[in-house]
Amino acid sequence: MNLLAMQGTKILATGSAVPDSTLSNNQISKIVQTSDEWIVTRTGIKERRLLIGNNKSVIDLATEASLQALSKISMDALEIDLIILATSSPNDLFGSASQVQAKLKALNAVAFDLTAACSGFVLSIVTASQFLQNGSYKTILVIGADVLSKWINWSDRGSCILFGDGAGAIILQSCSIKDNQILGFQLNTNGKYHEHLSLSYKEYKNPHPLLNLYQGYFDSITMNGKEIYKFAVSQVPLSILKCLDSLNITVDEIDWLLLHQANKRILTAVAEKLSVSTDKILMNLNKYGNTSAASIPLVLDESVTYGKISKNDIIVISGFGAGLTWGTVVIKWKY
Ligand code: COA
Repeated sequence: MNLLAMQGTKILATGSAVPDSTLSNNQISKIVQTSDEWIVTRTGIKERRLLIGNNKSVIDLATEASLQALSKISMDALEIDLIILATSSPNDLFGSASQVQAKLKALNAVAFDLTAACSGFVLSIVTASQFLQNGSYKTILVIGADVLSKWINWSDRGSCILFGDGAGAIILQSCSIKDNQILGFQLNTNGKYHEHLSLSYKEYKNPHPLLNLYQGYFDSITMNGKEIYKFAVSQVPLSILKCLDSLNITVDEIDWLLLHQANKRILTAVAEKLSVSTDKILMNLNKYGNTSAASIPLVLDESVTYGKISKNDIIVISGFGAGLTWGTVVIKWKY
């Protein structure tokens, strides 16, 4: 925590939402050449949820997750001062958070998108906690929501097996420093390797003779799976260790490892590198795959709902992905 912080951050409630429609590994094997056995062995994923139909977007999932979190604490949306929507699949490049604000009728809230792919939720929680600690805002809604199914190349078996759609939300509030739950963070970016995982902009020349103008569109996700795998397994443990070290917390004190749900093998390898028991990994990627910015709040909400997390547990949260960007935030559970 920032030594100059005037206030702490507490977590009031969590919520989540996934589409009803399921796509199993066996169904994917009818789209590309793969098998349930291959996908489960290499990733741990059994199925994922997809937002089907043409009139639904990330806004619907984000709103549903937020309403669930609000209803758990009977909070009126008018109490929210700020909404941060972590997403890389907005339905409007100018930002989707304002539409969530309108749907929630959170009319006192400032709202903006934060784009950082699978690290988006970690970066958003850290951003929110700065506003709370310096006293700018009292109540903040942080949402991680993505519908990467709209951007997947469904003929690329190396990537289409991994992703799913979903949303998770968390309500944060400022509190006295002694009740602070966001203990500290450690963030990183290395843009040199951005091409290993991207959803890049493509250009074509506008044919009008008076316009010497290139215009574009976004293509589909491209990924070098091997490089991303190596990056995650080598960098995530280092980020966690740096963060714990700065807080004088030992690895033995970790109660839960809440890592971005990319691949079971990555999660297990990170735990093993840290010498943390794999029983301490919170995981639901078998049901949802990699839901990008939604994956961490989805697991958090599920773990809280099922009573897995107890008061005073130390939870180490790490996000990693496109950018490349990765980082850790350590929280102490209080309810
Ligand atoms: N089904 C069957 N075979 C597949 C396949 C699929 N879905 N995808 C790839 N293969 C094949 C490859 O073509 C290759 O065949 P070849 O040896 O004949 O060339 C073989 O399986 C091995 O491919 P490889 O890419 O080396 O597999 P891998 O063990 O690295 O696993 C991933 C691939 C994608 C599962 C793995 O690299 C991974 O999870 N990386 C991290 C990706 C990630 O998490 N991205 C998001 C981060 S936010």
